[in-house]
Amino acid sequence: MPYVRPILQEGHPALRKIAKRVGPAEIADALFQQLIDDMFATMYAAPGVGLAAPQVSVSKRVFVIDVNDEHHPAAVVINPKLEECDEEIELREGCLSVPGMVGEILRYRSAVVSGLDRLGRKIRLAGEGLFAQCVQHEIDHLDGKLYIDRAANVRPVAAEEEEEAVTN
Ligand code: NI
Repeated sequence: MPYVRPILQEGHPALRKIAKRVGPAEIADALFQQLIDDMFATMYAAPGVGLAAPQVSVSKRVFVIDVNDEHHPAAVVINPKLEECDEEIELREGCLSVPGMVGEILRYRSAVVSGLDRLGRKIRLAGEGLFAQCVQHEIDHLDGKLYIDRAANVRPVAAEEEEEAVTN
């Protein structure tokens, strides 16, 4: 059974570590498969549109994403690599590890990410908008970075912008 794991908050040193690549043998391990299930459960419970393993105290290069978009089904990406991106635009962003806050950050408008799925098969996902933003945010988590490191105007989220404030 998947269970909801606690999400680390900003200030916890585990959020600042560079996560380790996942080996092919490890992907098939029951504990790793459980981690993926738990990450989905934790993301949906938050709720958020993405979650990276370091946010649940696991220093491994894996994230889950579900941006509620028919073009981008829910996915897990292991050992993700940002392959292509284009011009940067300013976007509003939040993070489950920095609750109640939002800020403006420059992100690539579109992104292509490659990696492995939960069966260890190569995948390549491309998208724009929220999907691209979220992929970049999660890969930052795997590198020990938080959006607040370089965002402008980080502030408590106002009631009127809460609906559209996306956290991951
Ligand atoms: Ni985050």
